[in-house]
Amino acid sequence: MSDSEQSVSHSIEPTDRVATLVDDLTAEEKLALVRGAVDPEGNATGYLPGVERLDVPELRLADGPLGVRTEEPATAFPASLALASTFDPALARRQGEAMGAEAKARDQDVLLGPGLNLIRVPHCGRTFEYYSEDPILTGAFAGAAVAGIQSAGVVATPKHYVANNQETRRASVSAAVDERVLRELYLPGFHDAVDAGARSLMTAYNRVNGTYMSEQRHLLGDVLKGEWGFEGFVVSDWFGTESAQRAANGGLDVEMPGVSLEEQFASMGMDPSAVADEMDPEIAEGMPDIGAGGHFADDLLDAVAAGDVPEARLDDMVARVLTAIEWAGLLDDRRDSGTDDELADEPEHRDLARTIATRGTVLLKNEGALPLDDDASVAVVGPNVDEAILGGGGSSETTPFDETSPVESITARADGDVAVAHGLAPVESVSMFDGMLGGDDAASEADEEPDPEIDAAVAAASEADAAVVFVRDAATEAADRDTIALPGEQDELVERVAAANDHTVVVLNTSGPVALPWREDVAAVASQWYPGQSHGESIAAVLYGDADPGGRLPVTFAPEDAYPADTAEQFPGVDDVAEYSEGLLVGYRHFDATDAEPTYPFGHGHSYASFAYEDLAVDGETVSVTVSNESERAGREVVQAYVDAPDAPDDLERPPRELAAFEAVAIEAGETVTVELTLDDRALGRYDAADGWTIDDGRFTVAVGRSSRDLRLSADIER
Ligand code: BGC
Repeated sequence: MSDSEQSVSHSIEPTDRVATLVDDLTAEEKLALVRGAVDPEGNATGYLPGVERLDVPELRLADGPLGVRTEEPATAFPASLALASTFDPALARRQGEAMGAEAKARDQDVLLGPGLNLIRVPHCGRTFEYYSEDPILTGAFAGAAVAGIQSAGVVATPKHYVANNQETRRASVSAAVDERVLRELYLPGFHDAVDAGARSLMTAYNRVNGTYMSEQRHLLGDVLKGEWGFEGFVVSDWFGTESAQRAANGGLDVEMPGVSLEEQFASMGMDPSAVADEMDPEIAEGMPDIGAGGHFADDLLDAVAAGDVPEARLDDMVARVLTAIEWAGLLDDRRDSGTDDELADEPEHRDLARTIATRGTVLLKNEGALPLDDDASVAVVGPNVDEAILGGGGSSETTPFDETSPVESITARADGDVAVAHGLAPVESVSMFDGMLGGDDAASEADEEPDPEIDAAVAAASEADAAVVFVRDAATEAADRDTIALPGEQDELVERVAAANDHTVVVLNTSGPVALPWREDVAAVASQWYPGQSHGESIAAVLYGDADPGGRLPVTFAPEDAYPADTAEQFPGVDDVAEYSEGLLVGYRHFDATDAEPTYPFGHGHSYASFAYEDLAVDGETVSVTVSNESERAGREVVQAYVDAPDAPDDLERPPRELAAFEAVAIEAGETVTVELTLDDRALGRYDAADGWTIDDGRFTVAVGRSSRDLRLSADIER
């Protein structure tokens, strides 16, 4: 069978207006709607020029997912991992609305987010851009983010579809993963994003079971456009196409940015081979090949002319893009050019960024050290305490209007003395763009300064009532972390400060889980991930108890060698194949199935309040439980329900326990609330190769509690 005979057949039924436009377009004009070009205003990440003759306007695509990345400032929201730590998808919806409004203020029509790949290995360089190791939690956030962005009339682009779970050799590695594992772990988040109405979706660079995602008939055609009824357009990741014919026939609708990496460098006045030679080797491993991309340029129309891509396929590609343009109102209302700082910098967006950073803070341990007394003297220690840790490197980098650092906000909040000691030279952020263009000079400037000394930090800590040590890592897109240990001598800094002060609190500003070799020696540990522009304000609010740390872990913390997928075959793969042989046992599913001990389990996080659970009842799909705040202060609880399903026929493996539903609630001091959770079919079911989603007969145990390892009540139901 030829490629064209196998072309995906899931065409949309366009509106009359779109259908007429498709009929009127010439072949070249059609190409202009499916192949990226350079934004003449230089602001968009991706650009489709439109067709002036027929009044089809241009379409501008800007990066997310942590803020709107153009050449101009925007709200720098916390890492998506911090957002997911709130376990409150309503905040993802509000962040989506805010980013949608800011995209509009910047004249952008499409936002390239949310990022929602499952966190399979903690080393993944983009862990901070993703939500969780659990598909139900991921899906809830993905759906809410899409709905929020699109409520502003801006097209959302969930990414990167699918199994883009590592950055090492991301442009060539093939995930060898079976259908059931895809269906139960890696696909649900995308399905939820599509159900929420996503009008675009980005393919991953990698291959799945040998085929590039930009050419995956099964996953783009059968699953996405067929089963799920996706009516938006599928856009490639940047330079992430490998051919015109296979991609178009496989189900890709738009190629971005429309040129090869080589042509892109040349258009920037750079010598492509010199750039390739000078690229940081780790970043180079995560970049597409210098010649990749640019396939739609001439090849697509040639393939259509030769009958290798059916004309109907090209028409459907065009119709999908025009449908999004029509939906965004752009066919009627050509936008004014020019962008608006005032609209992009709404006070509510600043407040929201702070709220998410505060509520996404996970208090991992607290032996009475927090909240700090207002009048305590405090030593603020850490190599980067004068700056906000905005995010990681890569396409999610956002430049805020304003930011707060730990030192400035703690100084403003404290009534007692504040001493500042860096202890170590700053840990420099890693920029994918600098790495691509041959390294960063900032580090060498910093090298000229004399290094701060750990001794000075120890001296400051020993004289203060409490020491707060901020530690960080520096992750980036295009490279995985070699280790989950903190970079440099930060572990030594923590150990020495802890030895000098019994009230040592450690704040983690990291891309994901990190090793905590000193955790028994410190009084409190809070993980704040990458907190974005409100770093200082949000951590000051938590440290002084002005806000309850509402966060719970969306990923397991464990010793590095206890995580699943720990062989080279599994991660990062051998000969460009990563075997997903751990199957369903990713994240807490692995720790529960193997009795491996996590350091801090999935769902864990303390509140300053304390809660009691009573009266669990399961009635049909509804689980209800009463939760009382037994403390004297208001607090936030995240009520979590996990299901232990009966054994499936034929000894099919089922994880011991899976998150089924959750709800974040604010509970006043002394108050009791009833929380209702819904068990949907996916929470009980498993994917069966022959029958699709299936709920087995037998006894299901529903356990409810504060984390995957702190389950307070359980009930059995028969199905
Ligand atoms: C990233 C995408 C991003 C695109 C455009 C790629 O390197 O993987 O997430 O949207 O670049 O900047």
